[in-house]
Amino acid sequence: MGIPVRRPEELALMRRAGQVVAEMHDVIRAAAAPGVTTRRLDELARAVLERRGATSNFLGYHGYPAVICASVNSCVIHGIPDDRALEEGDLLSIDCGAIVEGWHGDAAFSMGIGVVSETAGRLLVAADEGLAAAIAAMVPGNRVGDVGHAVEVVAGRHGFEVVRDYCGHGIGRAMHEEPDVPNYGRPGKGPKLKAGVVLAIEPMIVAGDEDTDVLDDGWAVVTADGAWAAHTEHTVLVTDDGPAILTRP
Ligand code: MF3
Ligand code: CO
Repeated sequence: MGIPVRRPEELALMRRAGQVVAEMHDVIRAAAAPGVTTRRLDELARAVLERRGATSNFLGYHGYPAVICASVNSCVIHGIPDDRALEEGDLLSIDCGAIVEGWHGDAAFSMGIGVVSETAGRLLVAADEGLAAAIAAMVPGNRVGDVGHAVEVVAGRHGFEVVRDYCGHGIGRAMHEEPDVPNYGRPGKGPKLKAGVVLAIEPMIVAGDEDTDVLDDGWAVVTADGAWAAHTEHTVLVTDDGPAILTRP
């Protein structure tokens, strides 16, 4: 069986969804600053979806109330936007997605608000490098374990851990499809990659211990020890000419 392979016309729609996600990221990256609330960032993302005639795969997902996740500092993922203003030195992780004609895109990035601590800065670098290494592993003949292993190696090199409670995932007609894509793995193990396979790869890297808790809002995933975290994600297609990032402009 293996991971489903997408047809060219399906990939064209996934690419369109990915471009909407990239535009949401651009708008949020430009707006995020001290004094701005994460609810405001959610509003800006909603406006992009509307302008592009796309819909949100986050809003209403198991009751999720927003089109973005905005996770600050020790929040790893699934932070619900609210009226707290961002502050200088915060580490902000934004995750969002879009649906175009039934096909999904999903991507995340982390950024510093103004000047951040040395540890936060290294987390941002590790999350970007981990994503780049995972994308580089998205080639025919490799396996899902190679992708996760690539992330784990980068995190370790920076003296950080990867979160094991949450994973990347297959993506297509639904946001979350088989297989799970952990941020750790054994090289040469797991489902095989081939041209036409699309995965949402999402390193979650923490400056302390890997254990997480869910807050009382039922969504926000925070580190158990309060250490800070960074999260990056792209929706990536395997081709015979190398990886193609569907969520990059
Ligand atoms: N997009 C997240 C992921 O990368 C899932 C978000 S769940 C939501 O898998 F409910 F917040 F949308
Ligand atoms: Co995802």
